[in-house]
Amino acid sequence: MATIVNTAEEAVKPIQSGQQIWVHSMAATPSLLLDALVEHAAPLNNVSLLQLHLENAEMLTASYAKGHIRARCFFASHATRDMINQGVADYVPMMLSDIPRSIRTGEQPVDVALIQVSPPDQHGLCSLGVSVEVTPAACESAQTIIAHVNPQMPRSHGDGFIHWRDIDVAFEKSMPIPLVSQPPANEVAQRIGQHTAELIKDRDCLQLGIGAIPEAILEKLSHLKDIGIHTEMFSDGVVDLVEKGVINNHFKTNHAGRLVAGFVMGSQRVYDFIDDNPEVALLDIEYVNSLQSIIRNRQVVSVNSALQIDLTGQVCADSIGSDIYSGVGGQLDFVLGANLSDDGRSIIALPSTAAGGTISRIVPVLTSGAGVVTPRANVHYIVTEYGVATLRGKSLIERARALIAIAHPDHRDGLERWLKKSFPG
Ligand code: COA
Repeated sequence: MATIVNTAEEAVKPIQSGQQIWVHSMAATPSLLLDALVEHAAPLNNVSLLQLHLENAEMLTASYAKGHIRARCFFASHATRDMINQGVADYVPMMLSDIPRSIRTGEQPVDVALIQVSPPDQHGLCSLGVSVEVTPAACESAQTIIAHVNPQMPRSHGDGFIHWRDIDVAFEKSMPIPLVSQPPANEVAQRIGQHTAELIKDRDCLQLGIGAIPEAILEKLSHLKDIGIHTEMFSDGVVDLVEKGVINNHFKTNHAGRLVAGFVMGSQRVYDFIDDNPEVALLDIEYVNSLQSIIRNRQVVSVNSALQIDLTGQVCADSIGSDIYSGVGGQLDFVLGANLSDDGRSIIALPSTAAGGTISRIVPVLTSGAGVVTPRANVHYIVTEYGVATLRGKSLIERARALIAIAHPDHRDGLERWLKKSFPG
C-alpha cells in the first residue's frame, strides 16, 4: 500500500546514487517529481534517467551538466538535444516496440519508476492517463514506484491501470496536464496534406504522428467513411474526425470499434475525449507497435515524417547529420506493419526543403553521420508539397527520377546534375 507523503521532495527521498530511473513521459511527465529530484540528486552521483520525450523538463539541464544525473534518452527532447550532442547525455536508438521488451528482459534495468497518475477509483486502480507507452513495463520491473497523484489526470481505458497497493510512495497535488498546441498548417503543410489524403481511402486503418502535417492530412479526410485508428499516438485532428463520424473503427479487424494508441498529446479537448472513454484503448506500446498487432488490421496506412531522404530512398528521421534531433520512435514499426498488412501503404510525408528553402531535404547522399530510420527497401510512398513519389519496386535510377520530380524546383537542377554524373548511361 502506498505511503502517502505531503510533498514531492519527500516522495523522491528513496532515490539513491547509481539507480536507473524510468520517467513517465510525454504529457504525463511528472514535472513536480523532477523538480524535487534536481535538489535531491545534488549530493548523488551516477543516477540515470531513462526517458522518451519529456514535456516541461528543462529543470533537469543543470543536473545533467553537473553530472549528478545522466539522461538516457530513447527520444531527444528540448532539454536533452544539446546535452546529447555535447556528449553529456546518451541517446539509445531503438524501435519503440523494443524498449518495453528490453526493460522486461532486464537488458535495460529499471530500479525506480517516477509516474503521474489519476487518483485511485473505487477498486483502488489509478490510471497512467494520457500516456501509457513504455511505463507499464517500467512499473513491472522497478523495485520502487513513486507517484504524483493528480486529480486532473484523465482516467484512460486500456493497459494504463496500476493498483494503489503497487505504488510505494505517493503525494497528491492537482495541476493541469501540459497542453501541446499545434502550429497552424502553412501552405506547404496544406499541400502535403492534400497529396497524402489522396492515398487514403474508406476503411483504412491509420497511424499518424503529431504536428502540422498530420493535422493537415486529417483535415482533408472529411469525405471518407469508416476510418480506423491503430497508432502510437494521436492528437486533436483525430477527435475532429470522430465527431464528424469519419473515424468509427467499425471495419478494423483488430480491436473493432475502438481507437488504439499508446499515448495522446494535444489540447484539453483530447484529454477530455479519452477520459473514461471505453472507445479509446491506450495500450502498452510493446503491443501497439508490435508487427503482430499492427498486421491484424487490413488496409494499414502509416504516415510519418523525415528530416532528409537520399535519392535511393533512405529515410533519415532522427538526426541532422550526426547531430541527434529526435528518435527512432515507432516509424519503422509501422512502416513494416503497413507493408505487411493486406492492402497496406506506408507514407513518408515531409516538406521538400528546410531552413527557409535554402536546404533541400531530398539529397543525392545523406549527410555524413545521418541515421537511417527507414531503410530504402521498406519505403513505399514519399510525399512532398510537389506530389507523390512511389518507390516500391523501383530501381535506383527510377527512384532518383521520382524523387527529383517532387524536390523543390530550385534544387532540381543540382540533383539532376548529380544523377547524370552518377548514372551516365
Ligand atoms: N537539414 C537541416 N535542418 C533541417 C533539416 C535538414 N535536412 N530538416 C529539418 N531541419 C530543421 C528544420 O528546419 C526545423 O528547424 P527549426 O525548428 O529551426 O524550424 C527542425 O530541423 C525540425 O524539422 P521539422 O521538419 O519541423 O521537424 P518535425 O517537428 O516535423 O519532426 C521528425 C520531423 C522527422 C523529426 C519527426 O517526425 C520524428 O522525430 N520522426 C521520427 C520518429 C517517428 O517517426 N515516430 C512515429 C510518429 S509518432
